[in-house]
Amino acid sequence: MPKIIKLEEVDSTNEWIKKNRKRLSDLDSVIAITQTAGKGRGSNRWFSPPGGLWLSLMIEKFPGSRGSLSLVSSVATAETLENYGLEVHLKWPNDIIVNSKKIGGVLIEKAQDGLVVGIGLNLNVKNSDFPDFLHSKIITAKEVIKKNLPIEEVAREIIKRIDIGRNELERIYVRYLSLNQDIGRMVGIVGPKETFKGRVMGIQLDGGIRIEKEGFEKIFYSGRPFYI
Ligand code: BTN
Repeated sequence: MPKIIKLEEVDSTNEWIKKNRKRLSDLDSVIAITQTAGKGRGSNRWFSPPGGLWLSLMIEKFPGSRGSLSLVSSVATAETLENYGLEVHLKWPNDIIVNSKKIGGVLIEKAQDGLVVGIGLNLNVKNSDFPDFLHSKIITAKEVIKKNLPIEEVAREIIKRIDIGRNELERIYVRYLSLNQDIGRMVGIVGPKETFKGRVMGIQLDGGIRIEKEGFEKIFYSGRPFYI
């Protein structure tokens, strides 16, 4: 049986998994009440007040690319939240969106010979628990459904869905496309050197996003898109 390790405070649950990799098996996970140095994608900090779900999961066996694990993890998270009555969308690559605002995100990193899936969800928290500059960008489950959710139960359901989903990649892909709202939209993607602007033509099973500009198509596997 995979275990869930519960911590009061940690720098980052993703870092904790990497440091403790040797004593963890496939699907073992850690949740923390707060993170003091939670990591978002890119070089972003991830604010993690008590009441949120700050979860990291060890993945040893995955039959696809890291990009498709990202699709599996975001669909598993979205479907779990739907079960608790939230209407969820996904923004490439794996922003979890409710009412056009970010309720959570996924960060996948290498953990020695495996992968760590880090999931952050603003569950039993208020907008005012976060710094001012985030207030217009984020949303919390408590604000939408007006009640607290069982954090550990939500974690268990996400883990179960990732476990099942990794063996159903075709279904996950179809579901990802139905939850995603980027296709057909004009976006800019901030890359390391330049911002590429164009129309989203599709998202691939390996997690890549296809952007078309003046008849020329480019595929991105990372970056942060903004709508134009
Ligand atoms: C994003 O930028 O959208 C990804 C955010 C991922 C945050 C989670 S919280 C649990 C895990 N530990 C971290 O330090 N980050 C991830």
